[in-house]
Amino acid sequence: MKEKVNAVVVGYGGMGGYHADRISKMENFNLLGIYDIKKERIDLAKERKINTYNSLEEVLADEKAELITIATYNESHKDIAIKAMHAGKNVISEKPVTLSSDDLEEMIAASNETGKLFTVHQNRRWDDDFATIKNLYDKNELGKVFAIDSRVYGSRGIPGDWRGEKEHGGGMVLDWGVHLLDQVLMLTEGKKLLTVYASLTNITNYEVDDGFRAILKFEDDLEILVEVFTNNFIEAPRWYMAGENGTAVIENWDLKGKIIKIRNWDKIDAVPIKAGTGLTKTMAPRTKETIKKYPLKKIKVNWEDYYDNIYDVIKNGEKQIVTHDQLRRSMKLIEAIFKSAELNQVIKFDI
Ligand SMILES: NC(=O)c1ccc[n+]([C@@H]2O[C@H](COP(=O)([O-])OP(=O)(O)OC[C@H]3O[C@@H](n4cnc5c(N)ncnc54)[C@H](O)[C@@H]3O)[C@@H](O)[C@H]2O)c1
Repeated sequence: MKEKVNAVVVGYGGMGGYHADRISKMENFNLLGIYDIKKERIDLAKERKINTYNSLEEVLADEKAELITIATYNESHKDIAIKAMHAGKNVISEKPVTLSSDDLEEMIAASNETGKLFTVHQNRRWDDDFATIKNLYDKNELGKVFAIDSRVYGSRGIPGDWRGEKEHGGGMVLDWGVHLLDQVLMLTEGKKLLTVYASLTNITNYEVDDGFRAILKFEDDLEILVEVFTNNFIEAPRWYMAGENGTAVIENWDLKGKIIKIRNWDKIDAVPIKAGTGLTKTMAPRTKETIKKYPLKKIKVNWEDYYDNIYDVIKNGEKQIVTHDQLRRSMKLIEAIFKSAELNQVIKFDI
């Protein structure tokens, strides 16, 4: 039998509850307990027969604890992570890792000094929709890709909690943006990101952004649009990808979607149609003979691979999947988005 990793979850709210539940069910991990600053969360854990700690210090003093998963408000990840690493613990922080590149460097320095694992729960790398679009992109199914749109639209504003407050690192760039941007950087790994242009929305919340749109220009003429909105009552496709030989769409997390590819570019089928008050050949739909529809090849991935990697890093000295350099790049991109929106300018990126 494999030796288990003993883990403690700090911050037992929605996401901390999820980690605690999953950790307690994974065969390579043992949930030692949880800690939360709120009494009601401690009481709930006790009701669920989960061991609880009275303070962060008590967690860090527990010699059995090897791994701390931090699922507190965004602004507190940094201090807890640094303290935990200096107490000899390996650390998973929830996303966003922290609020600035300077803070991130302090966290990475603590990891380098102590030799402890420090990584982030970028779980949406294991989303099936992302795996499906990445497979299409990696296999060059559409020929040279020139445009990708990644969108999530909600209609409920920001949930009425700390996510709406600046002091806690609220706002949608840091909440959903950090997922979608990490996905885009993984999709285009190896390609230089050249420029960023972004705008933020404040429709239901004035303290932090309640949505944003970012246009990322990469080398090789690839442009990616990332949108997160929270006051949109009609959904848009989760992914839209356009290449020289075809177009793919993934409608939603259920992986509804399709691919349409050109059969014969040279076969002229353009007959003008009446569109609005005019005629158009350019925008006329194609006839069936020149295109072909394909189903999406759905790729299923397993989120537990994330924790399996954590186990292998801690017990077998393997490399972590979510690396410090990836976190650095993603944090710099978030900062460029805020800067672009503030100045209403295109920001040169070039990394
Ligand atoms: N990866 C994902 O898919 C995902 C999804 C949701 C949330 N998150 C992240 O998880 C974190 C928590 O979000 P949530 O939705 O669970 O929020 P939440 O409000 O439900 O839970 C946060 C909990 O942390 C506790 N807490 C705050 N400061 C603390 C401290 N210093 N020490 C101990 N406990 C403390 C609070 O009392 C609360 O119970 C955030 O960073 C968020 O971005 C990630």
